[in-house]
Amino acid sequence: MDVIQIKNFKKSFGTNLVHDGVTFDVKKGECLGLVGGSGAGKSVILRSLIGLEQADSGSILINSVDITHMSEKELVEIRKKIAYVFQNGALFDSMTVFDNLAYSLRAHTQLNESQIDDRISVQLDEFGLLSAKLLYPSELSGGMQKRIGLARAIMLGPDIILYDEPTAGLDPYNTIKIQELILRMKSKGVTSILVTHDMPTGIAVCDRFVFLQNKVISEDGQTEELLNKPDSLINQFIKGQIV
Ligand SMILES: Nc1ncnc2c1ncn2[C@@H]1O[C@H](COP(=O)(O)OP(=O)(O)OP(=O)(O)O)[C@@H](O)[C@H]1O
Ligand SMILES: [Mg+2]
Repeated sequence: MDVIQIKNFKKSFGTNLVHDGVTFDVKKGECLGLVGGSGAGKSVILRSLIGLEQADSGSILINSVDITHMSEKELVEIRKKIAYVFQNGALFDSMTVFDNLAYSLRAHTQLNESQIDDRISVQLDEFGLLSAKLLYPSELSGGMQKRIGLARAIMLGPDIILYDEPTAGLDPYNTIKIQELILRMKSKGVTSILVTHDMPTGIAVCDRFVFLQNKVISEDGQTEELLNKPDSLINQFIKGQIV
């Protein structure tokens, strides 16, 4: 079953036509790699999936429901099921890690403070970050901030996770930690899209790739199939032969 369907998506900013009929889908439980050069429009697609950008035309379906023309109120419901992992972690600087993670639980669940504490402690422990619970973002390394950002994004138990460059700028240790977290989410049946330039990570976690080039999807295939094809766009991208 297709959890995400993007059909003939078109989007311009002023005279800058970024997407000219982008079409792809993501099946339940699949992790899809969305790759393409800088400025190709990957982040705009992720933002559009949670209604932060409006398509000029075309449609976006989440679990067969068209979100293209939804009101903010309707989008709030959709966003509860979709986690967005921002590139920089996007933590609230004035709050501790605990309060960052508690934020959505307080806003969107009936859990009491003790249940919230339990839930957060379990989550941080699972991520190996329990010792950071009472620290502020400024007291964490960039890699830890990104892992906390991921932990925060999944607090509500999302069905879908959108990762925007989750490993950019990370050392190998933190990169592997993020890969493990993505694989753990996948093993729970979460459907995801990974935007990345970090192809080893993409290859480690993605079942399939779509390549965004010249304002459309110019390649769509299973990871193994594309890697085994010497002249696939993905292979050319990895070798730095195209953007
Ligand atoms: N809010 C906005 N207003 C105007 N132009 C925008 C806006 N958001 C994105 N763009 C433009 O849309 C294009 C695609 O941007 P986007 O951020 O999606 O690229 P990207 O593929 O994510 O690139 P990168 O790999 O560098 O993150 C760029 O030309 C960018 O300038
Ligand atoms: Mg981007």
